[in-house]
Amino acid sequence: MGAATADNPTTTKPETTNPIIRFENVHKRFGPLVVLDGMTLDIPQDRTTVILGPSGVGKSVLLKHIVGLLRPDSGKIFYRGKQVDNLSEREMEPIRKRIGFLFQLGALFDSMRVGDNVAFPIRQQGGKNPAEIQEIVHEKLAVVGMDGTEKKWPADLSGGQKKRVALARAIAMNPDVVLYDEPTTGLDPIRSDVINELILKLKEELNVTGVVVTHDMTSAFKVADQVVMLFNGKIVSRGTAEEIRNCADPNVQRFIQGRASEEDLRALHRM
Ligand SMILES: Nc1ncnc2c1ncn2[C@@H]1O[C@H](COP(=O)(O)OP(=O)(O)OP(=O)(O)O)[C@@H](O)[C@H]1O
Ligand SMILES: [Mg+2]
Repeated sequence: MGAATADNPTTTKPETTNPIIRFENVHKRFGPLVVLDGMTLDIPQDRTTVILGPSGVGKSVLLKHIVGLLRPDSGKIFYRGKQVDNLSEREMEPIRKRIGFLFQLGALFDSMRVGDNVAFPIRQQGGKNPAEIQEIVHEKLAVVGMDGTEKKWPADLSGGQKKRVALARAIAMNPDVVLYDEPTTGLDPIRSDVINELILKLKEELNVTGVVVTHDMTSAFKVADQVVMLFNGKIVSRGTAEEIRNCADPNVQRFIQGRASEEDLRALHRM
């Protein structure tokens, strides 16, 4: 079975039963710039979906719609079957608590020590005493291999360590879903693989549903149960890692092999 393509979008349906998140014909534009142009996508529960696509295509915009940081111009977004795009900020809050977000730029609070960064969402939620908070922080830092770093400042950490602390913070509230926006960008291959293993571990041991945006093909093929490729505001291909690897679409092949198009090359030679 081949991967679904724009011409033949129904060739495969990798596990579309029981989607935890669903986009239904979502449109989003910023002024004249059309970013999402009728996005329909199912994110299956307890699985990892990898989103691929060129820079600027709208991958981060897509993730922000899941937690209501951006709202669609039209179309619907569902979380566990409930429409969420029309909820107020207050109504959205309990859903946001079930979703951890590893932002593209890490975004640790530089003025807080590592332990306080991880404790931040737990304190915001309230209801836990300092000893309980300390225990959760310790446990989450251990999950990402950063135990014992509670007292360090973000400025004293390497890029990879910051990513791992940000991931500890994203999982502090035991989320059902984790959105990973370029989790391995800027990391060496070994640190990247540690992050890949963490994504797999969270899925296998804690049944975390993952949505991973990445340009890192090694990571994509290692963690994905489903791969979705975006071009021009739409899904052009969807399938298992194996199906995407074998997909006949030349645009998809060029993307996953990292090859410039004929058009790009002609432009270069004209320079
Ligand atoms: N809040 C916003 N206001 C205006 N334009 C925005 C906003 N957020 C994103 N955009 C634009 O929408 C487009 C898609 O942005 P997005 O950040 O989703 O790209 P991306 O696919 O994540 O790219 P990259 O791989 O470089 O991270 C870009 O052209 C971006 O400039
Ligand atoms: Mg992005």
